[in-house]
Amino acid sequence: MRNLIILLVVGLAAAEDGASAWLRYAPVPQASNYRSLPLSIVALNTTTSSPVHIAGKELQEGIKGILGKELSIADGTKRGSSSIVVGTIDAYKKTFGDFEEADDLEEDGFFLSTVGQNVRIIGQNQRGALYGAFEYLSRLAQGKFSPVTYVSNPHAPIRWVNEWNNMDGSIERGYAGPSFFFKNGFVVENVTRAAEYARLLASIRVNGIVINNVNANATLLSARNIEGLGRLADAMRPYGVQLGISLNFASPQTFGGLNTFDPLDPSVDAWWTNITNQIYKRVPDMAGYLVKANSEGQPGPLTYNRTLADGANMFARATKPHGGVVMFRAFVYDNHINESNWKNDRANAAVEFFKNLDGRFDDNVVVQIKFGPIDFQVREPPSPLFSTLHNTSTAIELQVTPEYLGQNCHLVYLSPQWKEILEFDLRADDKPSKVKDIISGERFKRPLGGSAGVVNVGTNATWLGSHLAMSNLYSYGRLAWDPSLESEQMLQDWIRLTFGFDRKVIDTITEMSMKSRAAYENYSGNLGIQTLTDILYTHFGPNPASQDGNGWGQWTRADGFSIGMDRTVKNGTGNAGQYPPAVARVFENIETTPDNLLLWFHHVNYTHLLKSGKTVIQHFYDAHYEGAATAQTFVPMWESLKGKIDNQRYSEVLFRQVFQAGHSIVWRDAISRFYNNLSGIPDQAKRVNNYPYRVEAEKMKLDGYKTYAVNPFHTASGSMAIVTTSNSSVGTASANITYPSGTYDIAVNYYDLIGGRSKYDISINNRTIGTWTGDLEDKLGHAPSIYLDGHSATRITFKGVKVNKGDMLRIVGTANGIEPAPIDYVSFLPPGIID
Ligand SMILES: *[C@@H]1O[C@H](CO)[C@@H](O)[C@H](O)[C@H]1NC(C)=O
Ligand SMILES: *[C@@H]1O[C@H](CO)[C@@H](O)[C@H](O)[C@H]1NC(C)=O
Ligand SMILES: *[C@@H]1O[C@H](CO)[C@@H](O)[C@H](O)[C@H]1NC(C)=O
Ligand SMILES: *[C@@H]1O[C@H](CO)[C@@H](O)[C@H](O)[C@H]1NC(C)=O
Ligand SMILES: *[C@@H]1O[C@H](CO)[C@@H](O)[C@H](O)[C@H]1NC(C)=O
Ligand SMILES: *[C@@H]1O[C@H](CO)[C@@H](O)[C@H](O)[C@H]1NC(C)=O
Ligand SMILES: *[C@@H]1O[C@H](CO)[C@@H](O)[C@H](O)[C@H]1NC(C)=O
Ligand SMILES: *[C@@H]1O[C@H](CO)[C@@H](O)[C@H](O)[C@H]1NC(C)=O
Ligand SMILES: *[C@@H]1O[C@H](CO)[C@@H](O)[C@H](O)[C@H]1NC(C)=O
Ligand SMILES: *[C@@H]1O[C@H](CO)[C@@H](O)[C@H](O)[C@H]1NC(C)=O
Ligand SMILES: *[C@@H]1O[C@H](CO)[C@@H](O)[C@H](O)[C@H]1NC(C)=O
Ligand SMILES: *[C@@H]1O[C@H](CO)[C@@H](O)[C@H](O)[C@H]1NC(C)=O
Repeated sequence: MRNLIILLVVGLAAAEDGASAWLRYAPVPQASNYRSLPLSIVALNTTTSSPVHIAGKELQEGIKGILGKELSIADGTKRGSSSIVVGTIDAYKKTFGDFEEADDLEEDGFFLSTVGQNVRIIGQNQRGALYGAFEYLSRLAQGKFSPVTYVSNPHAPIRWVNEWNNMDGSIERGYAGPSFFFKNGFVVENVTRAAEYARLLASIRVNGIVINNVNANATLLSARNIEGLGRLADAMRPYGVQLGISLNFASPQTFGGLNTFDPLDPSVDAWWTNITNQIYKRVPDMAGYLVKANSEGQPGPLTYNRTLADGANMFARATKPHGGVVMFRAFVYDNHINESNWKNDRANAAVEFFKNLDGRFDDNVVVQIKFGPIDFQVREPPSPLFSTLHNTSTAIELQVTPEYLGQNCHLVYLSPQWKEILEFDLRADDKPSKVKDIISGERFKRPLGGSAGVVNVGTNATWLGSHLAMSNLYSYGRLAWDPSLESEQMLQDWIRLTFGFDRKVIDTITEMSMKSRAAYENYSGNLGIQTLTDILYTHFGPNPASQDGNGWGQWTRADGFSIGMDRTVKNGTGNAGQYPPAVARVFENIETTPDNLLLWFHHVNYTHLLKSGKTVIQHFYDAHYEGAATAQTFVPMWESLKGKIDNQRYSEVLFRQVFQAGHSIVWRDAISRFYNNLSGIPDQAKRVNNYPYRVEAEKMKLDGYKTYAVNPFHTASGSMAIVTTSNSSVGTASANITYPSGTYDIAVNYYDLIGGRSKYDISINNRTIGTWTGDLEDKLGHAPSIYLDGHSATRITFKGVKVNKGDMLRIVGTANGIEPAPIDYVSFLPPGIID
């Protein structure tokens, strides 16, 4: 441990690469206002690996950074005249006598008092004491020096993160480089970064981490890997973070050599009991298991005609003696359903699979429910399963990693979306039943419950691939502890801790972040139709056609004149009826269904009038233009912070905002052209399919380039692009400029495929105005594409270029690897125009 602490300290002093996230402990300008800082730290536990000892060290380092004062750490039994005392309530009482103020402490809770000469940080347990130390440091780092005394208790006992790491070191839906838990089939030797991550998690009061993919690999259970799990757990334990693992249901057969994995077969049961005992021998405080069964091809109890409860309870029995819990995912559905049956609905699956199992799960089983009935779309209603299970503990699964929301290449602050769900009142039994009070266990008097956030941090210094995305991890932890917090308040705490106190910095990042989810929803999928990304490939760029015509059940049922899922009871899939009556009534009736969920619950004509007075189709067009326009404004907003943020983070964020601005136009055009083509209804504002500022590449004079029909067609302007005639050639595309002489921003839309780094040179009358390389795969971590499509489509802009009518535009593209220097179009944008 000692080595680790030294490493962490060195890390803090390093450049602003994002590694220290919100734990930068930067000096606060108002430090001189804090006159009553105690003279020493007393940590009431001397074991170096104890969370209380770690809390003492953290306080020392934090105060040194924030206030520039080096406090000594006294190890214990006697408090000086003025000290910061940190410890458990038991240790505190033993040392200093009775202490009633902390009587209200619940498990993991803490008491913090900065009143008087001493600071007292007292945890119900060691973890709580560490949380209190981080809380005190967070206050100091934000310049909050006024004296306070309060108790803080968690809203729910389970505050976990899930990391979908594969044993080969890749991460499913991870956008920040490879795993730091696994490499080449084994747990890594070097656990330093795991400890650093545990520290970050502890500071937001996350107490459990499931380190491997829910699509689990049984080789995790080998003796060598169990030893590795022990190593990881040892590294994270000092931060109060318990390790958990995902299991593959078929392990007894595929790994254990049995001829079955039937959960009611005694040999299978014995196998799991034995392996569980082996793991607990090495990791005595393991948090438990996470199980994805009978979902998307994964094995499970249904294979043997056993119930999901039979499956879950088998693990519950094995972990119970060790105090472990089993998180059993409700994400069970058939991915081969037939769209030609109007009543089929994937959204119904969770309730159908679980409703008859209520009360049949052992006490240490928690059913982990994705927030909505489908799969982390930009807008969904809450899953009706939250209100179906009264006699079963439940947890909400949220995605910090924005699989369907721009993969951290678009700014999307997610807390407002989570709050919508957590605060939603499901009216079970016609009583107040907010989702947040169901998952905490309070509403149905359950012993367990909480939340699981799928984070997918990687080895990238920024943790998530994007500096601004870290507000999502921060607010996830804060909401897991206290869901009543407001999105903007958490965001601003995070901004102060991450970027400092400058008013303009705080206001600007607040404005960008608070507008970001609405912007993303506007230029992706509106009115509850889902994100409209490519569900069959990377989940990143637009591809509305991919939703329908397959068995995955993320249907839109869009045809030439109508769109939406009829989920009513009276004529549709009946999904609205899965909600308690008061909520069901709202969703059943088109008049009371909010516009933003209209197409989730109803199938209507494109000409259907919304409450806003617009038609559905015109709303699509307008929202897409509005969303993309908002994304453009994030670039100058961020640029206005130049000099107020260190260069590295400033330029890394700027790069992503520029990318988002360009890709939002790809989204805008693809979706509006798709529905324009399908419905034949023109845009009243005459924007869709009318791009007067563009020179289409396929219309340029080509030499070494050829035209290429892009699929899906709506991800290319004019449906066509150009590619070099061979993978090793150089192509030239030229055109005479017909625009009036003047100064333009020249935007080039091209495709950046993985597996090649094409080079481009753009010139006007042989004067090069820019060169670039198609190397976004090195700079952005989103899921890659090997095709010309909505994922690879992107834009680069050259600002303020003087051109004269009649000048010659030329682009020379040099293919590389599989990437044939593809180009879609060139826009000549007069000042103030976006197109
Ligand atoms: C100190 O911490 C260690 C490690 O967490 C723990 O085992 C021990 O019980 C603690 N001692 C006291 C007095 O709290
Ligand atoms: C499981 O891990 C082993 C060892 O790394 C690997 O050989 C195997 O392909 C993996 N199985 C799957 C289904 O990923
Ligand atoms: C372990 O990993 C950390 C970064 O996570 C690195 O700084 C350190 O050098 C590594 N240690 C060894 C022995 O490789
Ligand atoms: C229990 O598991 C360990 C480790 O996998 C194995 O070596 C041992 O043979 C198993 N014992 C029984 C009784 O199956
Ligand atoms: C499961 O039950 C169905 C009928 O309920 C039966 O047709 C099928 O053979 C059973 N499968 C197994 C593996 O027992
Ligand atoms: C879907 O159902 C329709 C109508 O019952 C049927 O004609 C079609 O073959 C089915 N498709 C599949 C893939 O099973
Ligand atoms: C809840 O489930 C338990 C078994 O886990 C059962 O004993 C109890 O009767 C059930 N209560 C209700 C209200 O269903
Ligand atoms: C982090 O990822 C970005 C983009 O994927 C990349 O440009 C950068 O080099 C990476 N940094 C580190 C330290 O891995
Ligand atoms: C009722 O359902 C049928 C399909 O069974 C569908 O064609 C029709 O449009 C629906 N009617 C209304 C009013 O939504
Ligand atoms: C929807 O459009 C279809 C086809 O144009 C038309 O027959 C139908 O009457 C329209 N329904 C409503 C409710 O406007
Ligand atoms: C530009 O215009 C000139 C004169 O009309 C013509 O000869 C030439 O081919 C044009 N160049 C391109 C690239 O279209
Ligand atoms: C550009 O260069 C080419 C040869 O590379 C030449 O033929 C042409 O005249 C030049 N055009 C201008 C406008 O200078």
